[in-house]
Amino acid sequence: MDFFPFFLSFIFIILHLLGQRFVQGEVDIQRHHHHHKEPITKLFVFGDSYADTGNIKRGFAPSWKHPYGVTFPGKPAGRFSDGRVLTDYIAKYLKVKSPASYRIRKHLAPHHLKNGMSFAFGGTGVFETLNPGPNMTTQINFFQKAIQDKVFTASDIRKSVALVSVAGNDYTRYTVTNGSIQGLPSFILSVVNQTIRNVIRIKELGVKKVIISNLQPVGCLPSVTASSSFKECNETSNNLLVAYHNTLLTEAVTKLNQQLNDNSSLPFIVLDLYDSFMSVLKHPSTHNIKNELEPCCVGVSSKYFCGSVVEKVKKYTVCENPKSAFFWDLVHPTDAGWRAVYTRLRITNAFKEIHY
Ligand SMILES: *[C@@H]1O[C@H](CO)[C@@H](O)[C@H](O)[C@H]1NC(C)=O
Ligand SMILES: *[C@@H]1O[C@H](CO)[C@@H](O)[C@H](O)[C@H]1NC(C)=O
Ligand SMILES: *[C@@H]1O[C@H](CO)[C@@H](O)[C@H](O)[C@H]1NC(C)=O
Ligand SMILES: *[C@@H]1O[C@H](CO)[C@@H](O)[C@H](O)[C@H]1NC(C)=O
Ligand SMILES: *[C@@H]1O[C@H](CO)[C@@H](O)[C@H](O)[C@H]1NC(C)=O
Repeated sequence: MDFFPFFLSFIFIILHLLGQRFVQGEVDIQRHHHHHKEPITKLFVFGDSYADTGNIKRGFAPSWKHPYGVTFPGKPAGRFSDGRVLTDYIAKYLKVKSPASYRIRKHLAPHHLKNGMSFAFGGTGVFETLNPGPNMTTQINFFQKAIQDKVFTASDIRKSVALVSVAGNDYTRYTVTNGSIQGLPSFILSVVNQTIRNVIRIKELGVKKVIISNLQPVGCLPSVTASSSFKECNETSNNLLVAYHNTLLTEAVTKLNQQLNDNSSLPFIVLDLYDSFMSVLKHPSTHNIKNELEPCCVGVSSKYFCGSVVEKVKKYTVCENPKSAFFWDLVHPTDAGWRAVYTRLRITNAFKEIHY
């Protein structure tokens, strides 16, 4: 069942944007001492599979099938990884537990709500994608409803941080359903514009800080590098699609922060997944990672993906040691991969603006 067509086709278009070149951001290695002016007690999460901790219904996605979750929590739990995902590491930084999944909201005791809630659904985007699941606008509607229903109080929201993940499902749909090279720049602009509308809405609902991930180096994903037997990143995808998205996002967020004119602390923070993925992929041994571009879990042929079982026969293989792999499947990092990315984010002081 091709529930996630992006497992099969993550084809990115060559974009001839004149003069558009990727310039690696300078590494900010200053270390500020941050002070908790107010404790952050909750994390609210929006977006896709890089952040989803179990919102898709059981049985409806590979994230609920073996061998997903084999490292953590030891069985499939709805995460698109062998273990933890971005949300879990951000929660770790904030010293809160991973927030509860929206899916099980009706079964949660009040104490389960104390870490916030995740509204992220794997496969989704800011617009409609090839996959079912609520787009980010709808996810924010769920959040708004939870506030109206007093699931979270105004004081809860004031002490919270939001994480917004946009990892590219909108672009996969664009590539499959339209594919016009001429139309891509304006589509990228509309994705970034919609992302900005979304984060403004989240802020207006009372959240103090919104962390927005930029696009990871899509050209390094195994779905793309399979054609080079996982030997090298496709720089065309990285330099054009990803660089343009990330440049627009950074510009828009900078402008937004300036407009709010609160110099005490920046309400919107871009989380540089591009730099952190690239840094780990360029220096894998620093993180005890081997064969950095090879996915740990793969289908036995292009017909199958990680987790495929046909008539009780496994149609996939898992590497010997997921803890030394960066990629888990064709598009998602392993637990160790996310840990390495998190380590890099901490080294570059990416979270210095989180506290307020
Ligand atoms: C990189 O991706 C583009 C667009 O999908 C493709 O046309 C090109 O052949 C790829 N390059 C390599 C080296 O695989
Ligand atoms: C999000 O999904 C809803 C419900 O399907 C739809 O009405 C709305 O237009 C979508 N929003 C965007 C920005 O695509
Ligand atoms: C597809 O691309 C063309 C060319 O830019 C554009 O006019 C059209 O609106 C696009 N269609 C969709 C569905 O995005
Ligand atoms: C995106 O926003 C910018 C600035 O607000 C605007 O000029 C542009 O027309 C918008 N583009 C799209 C495609 O929505
Ligand atoms: C921002 O900084 C300027 C100059 O230091 C100061 O005059 C202004 O009051 C500050 N604004 C806020 C909202 O703190």
